Amino acid sequence: MLQRTLSIVKPDGVSKGLIGEVIRRFEREGLRVVALKMVHLDKEEAKGFYAVHRGKPFFESLTDFMSSGPVVVMVLEGEDAIERTRKIMGATDPRKADPGTLRREFASNIEQNVVHGSDAPETAASEIAYFFNALEIHSH
Ligand code: CMP
Repeated sequence: MLQRTLSIVKPDGVSKGLIGEVIRRFEREGLRVVALKMVHLDKEEAKGFYAVHRGKPFFESLTDFMSSGPVVVMVLEGEDAIERTRKIMGATDPRKADPGTLRREFASNIEQNVVHGSDAPETAASEIAYFFNALEIHSH
């Protein structure tokens, strides 16, 4: 099924110089970047993005981290884009991520894990809409 998903190079990924590496790995696997921009979320914007995690023990720390520096947000498009993106990223906890995945190779810990990807079609739709309007997404 042709899908779109939202991915974010998180502040640790940006500061480690991994923007190009992340995009290269997605493109190498045939995913197409159909929208892209750099933004610096403030604390409230980070809380809004991660609203589903409100109340969890890591919520404050996560939203501090996500508002600590610029991030690169992108929409990826392709067959089964959600699952393929998640496979390239690896498990949330880098200690559990498969060898060769972005998080296994580059993440510092379960929070500072370099990259985000939507986990289901519904979350992909709402996460994409959080950052991009229809005129900013370009299928090609
Ligand atoms: P992400 O895929 O962006 O989705 C939610 C984020 O919360 C996750 O990546 C991690 O950055 C963070 N996270 C998830 N679980 C934990 C945890 N147990 N401790 C700290 N941060 C977490």
